[in-house]
Amino acid sequence: MRLNKFLAHCGVDSRRKCDELIFEGRVQIDGETFTNPGAQFDELHSEVRVDGEIVKLKSVFTYIKMHKPRGFVTSRKDPHNPQTVMDLLPKVMHVMPVGRLDKDTTGILLFTDDGDLNYSLTHPKHGVKKEYEVLLHRAPEGFPEKELQHGIILEDNGDRVRGIAKALNRKRTHYRVTLTEGKKREVKRIFRHYNTRVYRLHRNTFAGLSVNELPPGKWRKLTPQEITQLKKTAGIS
Ligand code: URA
Repeated sequence: MRLNKFLAHCGVDSRRKCDELIFEGRVQIDGETFTNPGAQFDELHSEVRVDGEIVKLKSVFTYIKMHKPRGFVTSRKDPHNPQTVMDLLPKVMHVMPVGRLDKDTTGILLFTDDGDLNYSLTHPKHGVKKEYEVLLHRAPEGFPEKELQHGIILEDNGDRVRGIAKALNRKRTHYRVTLTEGKKREVKRIFRHYNTRVYRLHRNTFAGLSVNELPPGKWRKLTPQEITQLKKTAGIS
């Protein structure tokens, strides 16, 4: 098995973060440091350590959905922000957020220790659908409802983004936006492109799942049906 895949399977972190751990020389196989994330090794007969701690394959994973409240950063630890979403979960759960929401964004956020599923759900090739509800300071200059479906180029770094935007009021200050890519601060940057600003952002759904039944700050484990739905979306059977 590839080393980065193995670490993600063990629930060490997301595959991208595992790559970083490997590059940083923090991973040993049978006492030898490996710095190539794609290194193949025999996972059944090798001892793998991260920062000196033995890591083992997991067979039972945890899947959680949370109604993220405002004021919490999506990170495992953040020296600049005292409140992270991890503070809302019991300490014993070694799960990781699936993607991220900004500190002031509310709505559905998933967590899991299944690194493979995490990787697939956040990889652009699977085009996982996310639906946001957006309140704006003033109406956009221009028409995201017409243009976004064909793709627009964002000024800040030249990213091309596509999606569906639907105005929900006549003043065009309330939108529903559906995206499948997951670029950083995508919704806010889309509306910057139209010379307006978002003052309230809520993620209604992620891969068809919602947190309508949960008050802000609350979480629950996914049902077997929800896990199956998620895996299907991520292309994992
Ligand atoms: N887009 C944003 O701008 N912020 C979020 O938190 C999520 C999507």
